[in-house]
Amino acid sequence: MTGETAAVDVSIPSIARVYDYLLGGHDNYEADRRVGDFFINDLPGSVAIAHANRQALTRAVAAIAADGIDQFIDIGSGLPTVDNVHQVAQRHRPGAKVVYVDNDPIVLAHGRALLQTDDRTTVIQADLREPEAIAQHADVRRLIDFDKPVGVIFSAILHHLNDSEDPRELVRWWVDRVPAGSEFYISHFRTGHNEETSAAEEKLQETFGRGRWRSDAEILALFGDDLEILPPGLTYCSRWRPAPAAPDVETIGVAERELTVWEHLIACVLARKP
Ligand SMILES: C[S@@+](CC[C@H](N)C(=O)[O-])C[C@H]1O[C@@H](n2cnc3c(N)ncnc32)[C@H](O)[C@@H]1O
Repeated sequence: MTGETAAVDVSIPSIARVYDYLLGGHDNYEADRRVGDFFINDLPGSVAIAHANRQALTRAVAAIAADGIDQFIDIGSGLPTVDNVHQVAQRHRPGAKVVYVDNDPIVLAHGRALLQTDDRTTVIQADLREPEAIAQHADVRRLIDFDKPVGVIFSAILHHLNDSEDPRELVRWWVDRVPAGSEFYISHFRTGHNEETSAAEEKLQETFGRGRWRSDAEILALFGDDLEILPPGLTYCSRWRPAPAAPDVETIGVAERELTVWEHLIACVLARKP
């Protein structure tokens, strides 16, 4: 699906809307809620994956901004939720520019409504598998200066691609397109090996008919071998640079507590082009 003409068929569940439902959003329809309810009711722990993923993304955007990057391309951005990438980025760098890219037409509609008053942020409808079309889009050319480092975000999207669609090649396209100092963030489902979690993997494959959960080595290989992997490397989203616990509250930090089986299913990693 390319361009901005595709209509929304609400009888077919969409990745963006199911995910929105799991995060507690309201931009979803019955078909999406039916899939979401399967996770909520039959695999309740699995909902934690969506939250762990989203929170890690927030921390990653803050980290990229702290590294001095003030322009972001968020590919497979999803529906607007709390603490969207542009809000996090602009909190740290008020002039930050953000392009959201998603192939679901509903993301474009809701994103435009959210961003009406923000001329540093835009949302375009385009397909991850057509990177040239993304880079050539008028809004991308207007906002992104490809002579300066860019933060390229692939959060919870590459596991929706089959191997035959060559996700590594797509990541490498962006690595080659942006200058040294650019950073790349990936969060990705990890292959699970127990009965409980494999039901989640099966349900997602069955519902959307595509994609693959990958091993840690396969996820890292998506970057190629010439990027600098930034600390702490590839790890569970819940453990990726966790926010420090408030000093006056007695809490068990995520570093000390055991992760649930579900939290083991999503990992993330940040890398820099040297
Ligand atoms: C699970 S959501 C992740 C949303 C957000 N990146 C996050 O991590 O919170 C995956 C998103 O990728 C989008 N998507 C799936 N396949 C895509 C493709 N081929 N091109 C662009 N977007 C795609 C879906 O529409 C959905 O919004």
